[in-house]
Amino acid sequence: MKEIIFATQNPNKIREIQAQLIDSYTLKGLLEMGIEEDIPETADTFEGNALLKAQYVWEKLGISCFADDSGLEVEALGGAPGVDSAHYAGLHRSSQDNIDLLLKNLGDNPNTNAQFHTTITLILNGKVHHFEGVIKGKITKEMRGGMGFGYDPIFIPEGYDCTFGEMELTEKNKISARARAVMKLVHFLNTNT
Ligand code: IMP
Repeated sequence: MKEIIFATQNPNKIREIQAQLIDSYTLKGLLEMGIEEDIPETADTFEGNALLKAQYVWEKLGISCFADDSGLEVEALGGAPGVDSAHYAGLHRSSQDNIDLLLKNLGDNPNTNAQFHTTITLILNGKVHHFEGVIKGKITKEMRGGMGFGYDPIFIPEGYDCTFGEMELTEKNKISARARAVMKLVHFLNTNT
């Protein structure tokens, strides 16, 4: 059984991926490994931040590991909020504040194209691999639905009429950027034991 660390403190994310991995791997989170500090995410790309987090764990523990970084990219805002998605309106502001600022900055712009983007970076036996997941869609000018988190109430995925906020989680989890990146990671690990 090979041990692999997921650089997250979120037990739900760990359970979700462990359930998809063949028996050769045991996933452990940061807390189980005694890493309680926040790992700095100072890069200006998702790939850069995921790499920073994975490298931190690799350098500290020397065990194969992976990390993820996600966000929303709005075309008319030059890709913002991007890597600043969690703190777009400021460090201690809410998802509602982030949404309000995004809609204010977008204003009446007719270009509402956007996408969620996830990068997962894996360091397996010292070698770096990146896995990307993207879901394209459009921004709505008013919020719809109370499900999900973050920017879900203002994002309509391509091919749908409802926002992520109006979509059952099981449905969203089939098409989300994270799900797409996770699928690639899981396939890679399950075929590279
Ligand atoms: P993280 O890298 O997964 O922590 O995501 C960073 C931020 O991007 C979150 O705090 C949310 O604001 C936003 N975000 C990422 N994925 C999603 C999503 O699926 N729906 C809504 N917002 C998201």
